[in-house]
Amino acid sequence: MNPLWKNTPDKIGQLIPTLNQQGFMTTALDPYTNAFIESLSGSKDPVLEIGTAYGIATLAMLNNNINVIANDLEKKHLDIMKDNVPKEHSHLIEYRSGDFRSLTIANNSLAGILTIRVLHFFPGDSIEKSLHQFYQWLKPGGQLCLVVDSPYMKHLSRLLPIFEKRLAQGEEWPGHIDNYKEYLDVKYKDKLPDFINLQSPETLKQATERQGFKVKELGFCARPDYPDDVRLDGRENIGIICIKPNALPYGSPSCKIKKG
Ligand SMILES: C[S@@+](CC[C@H](N)C(=O)[O-])C[C@H]1O[C@@H](n2cnc3c(N)ncnc32)[C@H](O)[C@@H]1O
Repeated sequence: MNPLWKNTPDKIGQLIPTLNQQGFMTTALDPYTNAFIESLSGSKDPVLEIGTAYGIATLAMLNNNINVIANDLEKKHLDIMKDNVPKEHSHLIEYRSGDFRSLTIANNSLAGILTIRVLHFFPGDSIEKSLHQFYQWLKPGGQLCLVVDSPYMKHLSRLLPIFEKRLAQGEEWPGHIDNYKEYLDVKYKDKLPDFINLQSPETLKQATERQGFKVKELGFCARPDYPDDVRLDGRENIGIICIKPNALPYGSPSCKIKKG
């Protein structure tokens, strides 16, 4: 058993394997997620986390008195998380298993949406649709925090030149790789999916701005907790925090008023 997490599979280094071949849960949080959680501390309006696995970020949000809707494709992940939620926080959390694209959530109801190391499992058109949906679900002023994998990892060295060439040619989704596992120089391939859509700061900025978000923070971030055969040079992940802008005040210069 992992000392911090009851009932999960054993850790491999710093990582805990998921039960559905969707990679691993980290046991440490990145700086973008930490900043997002801090800024929403005490939020009564709910924050949706998509792809929680066993709850590394959700448990941190509960510790900050944030109301959380915890979503994961794999119900068993949420059942394990439930065993790890302290009793005094159980009133703050709602569990919703299944594909996040089928969730029913009221528009303009969420203070934030967090999804860490999940969106790179989806093709570009699905990411676009999801960002559009996230925008609808967030309240004006609400925050979206995404953390995704970049191609700057040791085990992806054969993919990096392909990615950089496509990025330089202006492709919208240069990291779309169908036969991903064929390129991997890494152990534990069986824990990973077949497809990946690796991101860059540019791809995330453009995709979120196309849906109307305003970017607040964006950049690479290091994953010191990734294994030696994966970690490269501090650019392993990309984080973005963006905001759904508040509606323009009535009568402000850029608010067009229809004349009768
Ligand atoms: C690589 S793990 C990341 C776990 C955690 N967020 C972290 O950063 O350590 C990806 C997680 O996303 C979940 N997931 C994948 N597709 C999903 C979907 N369509 N809807 C909800 N969760 C999904 C998987 O079940 C898995 O738990």
